Amino acid sequence: MSVAAVLAHEVDFAGWRAAARRFAQSGVSPNDVIWSVGCANDLFAEHAEADAALGVGEQAGSFTVSRRLLALAETVVQARDPERFALLYGLVWRAHRGDRTVLEDLADPAVQRVRRLAQSVQRDTHKMRAFVRFRVVTDQDVTRHVAWFEPDHYIVEANAAFFVRRFATMVWSILTPYRSVHWTGQALRFAAGAERADIPDDDALEAYWRTYYSSIFNPARLKITAMRSEMPQKYWRNLPEAALIPDLIRNAGARTDRMVEATTLSSNYPTEQPAGPSPAPAALATGLAGIAQQAQACRRCHLWEPATQLVFGEGPADAALMIVGEQPGDQEDLAGRPFIGPAGQLLNRALSEAGIDRSKAYVTNAVKHFKFEPRGKRRIHAKPDTTEITACKFWIDQERAAVTPRLTLLLGATAARAVLGRTVTITRERGRPIALGDGSQAFVSVHPSYLLRLPDEDAKQREFAAFVTDLRSVRALID
Ligand code: URA
Repeated sequence: MSVAAVLAHEVDFAGWRAAARRFAQSGVSPNDVIWSVGCANDLFAEHAEADAALGVGEQAGSFTVSRRLLALAETVVQARDPERFALLYGLVWRAHRGDRTVLEDLADPAVQRVRRLAQSVQRDTHKMRAFVRFRVVTDQDVTRHVAWFEPDHYIVEANAAFFVRRFATMVWSILTPYRSVHWTGQALRFAAGAERADIPDDDALEAYWRTYYSSIFNPARLKITAMRSEMPQKYWRNLPEAALIPDLIRNAGARTDRMVEATTLSSNYPTEQPAGPSPAPAALATGLAGIAQQAQACRRCHLWEPATQLVFGEGPADAALMIVGEQPGDQEDLAGRPFIGPAGQLLNRALSEAGIDRSKAYVTNAVKHFKFEPRGKRRIHAKPDTTEITACKFWIDQERAAVTPRLTLLLGATAARAVLGRTVTITRERGRPIALGDGSQAFVSVHPSYLLRLPDEDAKQREFAAFVTDLRSVRALID
C-alpha cells in the first residue's frame, strides 16, 4: 500500500522535509510514497488510512541527513519537475540508511538528475535577478514599480528577499504566471499568478533602460551566441532594451569603426575617461530624486550583485558643500545611508569641531555599492578599483550637476580620483582649493577611515587635528 504526501504548495520545502523525515523514520520506501501538491481531500483521507496501515507516525528515532543534501533539496524543490519530491526523498532514504556519500556518486542517474535540476534552478535564479525590469505605474498618487517575468521554475518565493534588499525603498510588484509578489515598502505579500496584460506597456523607465543599454553596448565585444545564451530570446520581450538589439547587432560593424576612430582621435586622453555610458535621458533626470531612483537599478559594474542595496547621497539638493567619501561600508550598506558607521561618526565629530553643520551638506560616495570580501560571517571592506570608480563616476557627475555645490570636499584618494578624473596623491594636494571646470572648487583631505586605522594614539590625535584644520579651511571657503 502507498502513502500520500500532500504538500501545501509548489515550494513547500518545510512540508517535504517533515514528511521525508517521518517516512524515513517509519521505514517507508520511496516506492511507496505518492507526492503531490495541493489540498486534495480524497488524498488526505487515503493518506490517514495508509499512514496507519504502514505504521507511519511521529517517531522518536534518529534522522540524520547532511546539511549539503538539505541545501540541495531546498534548491531542487523550486524546480518545475513533478518528480522532484520523489527524487529527493529517494536520496534522503539512501542517506538515512547509511549511504553517507550518496551525493558523490556522480554516475548515479538520480544524483545526476537532481544536480541538473539544481543547476537549472540556479541559472533561472540568475536570470531573474538580472532581467527583471520594472515599469512605473502611478495610480492615485501612489507610484508603484511593476515587473513581468516568466521563470522556468518556481523561484519567486526564494528570490523575493533578494528584491526586497535591492529595492527596499521602492513599492514594487513582480508578476509571474504562477505567483505574484508585492513589496509595500514594509511588508512582503505573495499572491496568485498573473498575466502579462496586467501591467501597462510603456513608460519613461523603459526609455531609460533603452538609453542605458545602448550606451553600454560595446559593438567590439559582440558575441551573438553568448548573448543569446545569457539573455535567452524568451526574456527579450520583457526587456525594453531588447527592442534595440536587432539594430545594435546590424550596426555593430559601423559602430566598431566609429569607436576605433574615436579612440585614435583621442589617444592623448587620460585612459580613465568614463567608458561610454551617456547621461540618462534629460526627461528622467529631473532632480536628485529622479537620479536616485534610476541609480537603484544600476548595473554599470558588477558591485550591485553582492551588495544589499545602492547607497545614494543624502542632504539638501541646494547644498553649498558636497562631501564625497569612498564607498558605503557594512553599516551603510544595510541602512542605505552614507557615513553612518564608525567612519561617519568620526566625520561628524570632526565636522562639528570645525563648525560645519552636516545637515546642511550633501553627503555621498564615489562608489555607490559596498564592495567587500566575505570572511566567515563578516564582510571585509575591499577597495574599489579603477573600473568600478569610473563606472560609478556617472552618478557622482549627475549628483554634482543637480546639487551644484560651491565646494566638493573629497575624502581620500577614491573620491579625489572620481571627481578630478586622475590619480591624486593626498599628501601633495590636500588642504587647498582646486578649481573645477564648472567654476566650483574641490578640496582634498584624508578619509576618516585612515584616522581610524592609525595604530598609535599620538598619531591619531595629530592626524585628527590636521583633518579638522582642513575642514576649517573648507568652512572658510564656503562661508
Ligand atoms: N566610508 C565611506 O567612504 N563612505 C561611507 O558612507 C562610509 C564609510
